[in-house]
Amino acid sequence: MEGTVLVTGAMGTVGHEVIKQLAVRDGKVRAGVHSIIRGENLKRLPNVEVAEIDFKNPDSLHAAFTHIEKVFLLTPFTPDQVEMAKVLVDEAKRAGVKHIVRLSVMGADAEPGIQLGRWHREAEEYIKQSGIAYTFLRPTSFMQNIVHYHANSIREEGKFYSSLGDAKVSYIDVRDIASVAVEALKGDGHEGKTYDLTSDEALTYKEIAMILSQVTGKEIEYVDLPEDTVRQAMLSQGAPEWQTNCIQELNEMYKAGYGGVTTDTVKQITGSEPHTFREFAQDYQESFK
Ligand SMILES: NC(=O)c1ccc[n+]([C@@H]2O[C@H](COP(=O)([O-])OP(=O)(O)OC[C@H]3O[C@@H](n4cnc5c(N)ncnc54)[C@H](OP(=O)(O)O)[C@@H]3O)[C@@H](O)[C@H]2O)c1
Repeated sequence: MEGTVLVTGAMGTVGHEVIKQLAVRDGKVRAGVHSIIRGENLKRLPNVEVAEIDFKNPDSLHAAFTHIEKVFLLTPFTPDQVEMAKVLVDEAKRAGVKHIVRLSVMGADAEPGIQLGRWHREAEEYIKQSGIAYTFLRPTSFMQNIVHYHANSIREEGKFYSSLGDAKVSYIDVRDIASVAVEALKGDGHEGKTYDLTSDEALTYKEIAMILSQVTGKEIEYVDLPEDTVRQAMLSQGAPEWQTNCIQELNEMYKAGYGGVTTDTVKQITGSEPHTFREFAQDYQESFK
């Protein structure tokens, strides 16, 4: 019988999609949630059991890792993410886990790269050195970021603000990342592989605003601001300095043209075309109205 798959960050953007897609496949799934109360609804999905995990507390991991064969391993966007990843890998090793599918980021191998990539590279290296079979998923920025970071101002003012200029980025739908993750966990031959994941089109924020306007039927405008204005706005809204530095570095990389690369990996692994931004906008249009 197939062993249980543990999904970390199961209430988060990617983890939740992975759980939903794994639930309809054969085999048991254990949702690793930060708060058992918030994870209550996941129990309604078929084949899913729930375990509370605190990445910062190794003692909380033992029960969650018992009888686990494979792990979908993600850590949040925080400065201590590498320590968290190391704690999880150590526990996976102790528990005899056979395969880790790790959510990383596009450009994690770039030298010297940006801070975000360097954190992911360190976590990837630690997984490699653990001797556990691995698959690294390196997606570009998520389409769902536009919901998380810009839906409020789009709903209230019909505008969204950033400093990306005319940078083209091949944003990916997290549903496609989850589909690749599920194939890597359930299919054969993904051990030792690294997958760069993108949609098949690179878009500017102006083009995104145009698609959102067409799909929602309301005028949506992208407003480009100087980098420092965006940075000050983030700081005044309570974002920590490390986070504004990371976002600024990422934006600079995109403005230098590194965000427009596309790959056909989603199609190769899942057999389906990745979602286009227009399809994403249709499916999430209520968030912007
Ligand atoms: N956003 C992008 O465009 C993008 C692109 C490429 C790669 N990535 C990578 O994707 C990863 C983040 O994935 P995501 O966006 O799906 O994350 P997310 O939505 O922020 O979710 C993170 C999950 O981790 C849980 N969590 C946080 N701290 C925890 C702790 N101490 N113990 C246990 N669970 C904890 C959170 O639970 P609570 O909410 O209950 O705390 C949440 O369910 C990062 O590594 C990031 O670098 C992001």
